[in-house]
Amino acid sequence: VTISDDSSRVTAVLPTGESVEVLLYGATVLSWKDAAGDEKLWLSEGAKLDGTKAVRGGIPLVFPVFGTAPDHEATSKLPQHGFARNSRWEFLGKSSTEGSASGVKLDFGLSSENLDDAARQLWPYKFGLLYSVTLAPDSLSTALVVTNEGDEPFECQTLLHTYFRVSDIASVQVLGLEDSPYHDKVDGVKNKTQSSDPVTFSGETDRVYTPAKGPGHPVVITEAGVAKFRVVRDNLDDVVVWNPWVDKAAGMADFEPKDGWKKMVCVEAGAVSSWQKLEKGDAFEGAQTIYLK
Ligand code: BG6
Repeated sequence: VTISDDSSRVTAVLPTGESVEVLLYGATVLSWKDAAGDEKLWLSEGAKLDGTKAVRGGIPLVFPVFGTAPDHEATSKLPQHGFARNSRWEFLGKSSTEGSASGVKLDFGLSSENLDDAARQLWPYKFGLLYSVTLAPDSLSTALVVTNEGDEPFECQTLLHTYFRVSDIASVQVLGLEDSPYHDKVDGVKNKTQSSDPVTFSGETDRVYTPAKGPGHPVVITEAGVAKFRVVRDNLDDVVVWNPWVDKAAGMADFEPKDGWKKMVCVEAGAVSSWQKLEKGDAFEGAQTIYLK
């Protein structure tokens, strides 16, 4: 396993050729390639990678609030999707993983002590985050452990905001959300139910599903009927499905090319429809594994 750490990003390459690249800003996974060098994630050509804005693409990490929560006093002042994706994380090191196919695990940390003053004032709790990115020949796992290191309890949400690269959104389906309740953020209606059909895309889509079948049941992204990605969740009850389509993409300065919405779909594993309450010393762990086969 080759690791390079140039102080702003960490790259790991397996002997079989697969690679992953993580920006310390946000601990954002920027790239995941298979052995043939094919990129699996979508990253905007206009994404800011210099720490001035959350990265548009890859896998931004949402914590401690999903979206904004004006009615949740403790997080009401935070920017959209919280501060984890806008903070500089520390690279804690790598370890190799055992099993049938060898891989590499990269660990990243963020704690209240490393936050900038502005973020600390908006959310004054003592916490520790440990984020592990594990690359194996046919999968990528991202796992977050949140620990309450202070005396005050706090409530949080988290989400792995994965931008999957697709060839044509019109031929994409998302399976595994059939008959599941969802909140439609496009029209604001909270209690819709997905039909027994897969999710397809023909306009702006922004939905928070709580899949009826539970986290262990995979959510599968297909293209022209062929399975491309299989997402298995651990302790993350919700799945957000997002595509901005024409107008929302046009409105995002960092979204390039402007028709890039045809080439991406966000399927985001998270704990966002309620709050995780952590008492002093408590920890919450949530993870996803994305399989290519
Ligand atoms: C999704 C939300 O998770 O993220 C959308 O459901 C939001 O409502 C999208 O537009 C992108 O958010 P941001 O802050 O990265 O532009």
